[in-house]
Amino acid sequence: MTKHKILLIIGGGIAAYKALELIRRAQDRGYEVTVIMTKAAEQFVTPLSVSTLAKGKLYANLFDPHEEMDVGHIRLSRQADIVVIAPATADLMAKMAHGLADDLATATLLANDRPVLIAPGMNPKMWDHPAAKRNRAQLAEDGVHFVGPTSGEMAEANEAGTGRMAEPAAILDAVDGLLRPSQHGLLSGKHVLITAGPTHEPIDPVRYIANRSSGKQGYAIAAAAHAAGAEVTLVTGPVHLNAPEGVEVVAVETARQMKQAVVDALPADIAIMCAAVADWRTASAADQKQKKDGSGTPPVLELTENPDILHHVAREADPRPALVIGFAAETDHLIEHATAKRLRKGCDWLVANDVSQEGVMGGDTNSVHLIRDQGIDAWPKADKQAVANRLVSEIIQHFQ
Ligand code: CTP
Repeated sequence: MTKHKILLIIGGGIAAYKALELIRRAQDRGYEVTVIMTKAAEQFVTPLSVSTLAKGKLYANLFDPHEEMDVGHIRLSRQADIVVIAPATADLMAKMAHGLADDLATATLLANDRPVLIAPGMNPKMWDHPAAKRNRAQLAEDGVHFVGPTSGEMAEANEAGTGRMAEPAAILDAVDGLLRPSQHGLLSGKHVLITAGPTHEPIDPVRYIANRSSGKQGYAIAAAAHAAGAEVTLVTGPVHLNAPEGVEVVAVETARQMKQAVVDALPADIAIMCAAVADWRTASAADQKQKKDGSGTPPVLELTENPDILHHVAREADPRPALVIGFAAETDHLIEHATAKRLRKGCDWLVANDVSQEGVMGGDTNSVHLIRDQGIDAWPKADKQAVANRLVSEIIQHFQ
């Protein structure tokens, strides 16, 4: 089997020391690692240590006549399967967001057509700065994948918050998730049924009850399951996303329509109920637009409970899918609520996410816990496609 190649760019931050372990651990997992160090990175780790670990495959200088003989900055990324930046400093991210190319690292990134995974590491104040937020929003839009940062103690005394670079193992899990030709075909012959997005529950012809779900996580899972060879049915509420290629999409609006579409799509081998289904609908939606009656008294909306689709699939479907996965969006007591929810719903696995965190609902990243009989795994914050790929890897392992 040919080895996958990582081009690792080490930025100039205190977390650069972890890049040494990252190189070692990547080699342990069978990756071949080539490294570019920025000038600033050389202040934190020595090129000699990096070069020794990377078996001499270290580059640093855009204007080195030997390295540039064969247009090094273009060749370097072409030879890689993925470019990983760790730590991705605020400066490096700003340069990437603006397309600057004034050193070997940034010139290589601008000439690059491979997937890019960045592991940001910076002071929490920098991470929270509006300029840094703008830059990462731009990078996410450009298709850059993120892993971390995490929160906790920083190198600087008395500084806490989000900004710590993800651990090497977590970065490599994200790499594994993105480079997964090994998953190719491993779900072939399996029917995967996925729900995604919100539901809209009409109040009258122009108004409805809804929630902030974007559908991104469910769509990403559909794409990952399809890439692994599954036959995928995606039952989706109203979202602004393009249908993933090769996936059968059933568009619905209300919870009752979603349940019917799910029942119609069964049987399935794997059910992943990712939708943020409205718990309630109006007891009777009006046929005409509700008008103000001039009295100043607001109308009373009588609500009634919607069917619980996950509960139905996990407890009543016959035949029941071999693996039923639910999601739980919680704002507090995440583990406690999610653990209870898994048992109540009767699903096999539950993916719990903390939606009180900024940017999860509607955003591009997610930080989740996977709750199963065998225990609870906390996954580092990563973009939704990386979370989806990892979930699909877990599913593949489950069926092996
Ligand atoms: N779900 C569903 N049908 C519903 C409500 C929820 O299929 N009517 C599914 C969701 O797709 C998700 C899981 O159940 O996989 C948990 O959704 P959540 O809204 O967190 O659960 P609730 O049952 O609404 O629990 P609570 O309101 O108590 O948090």
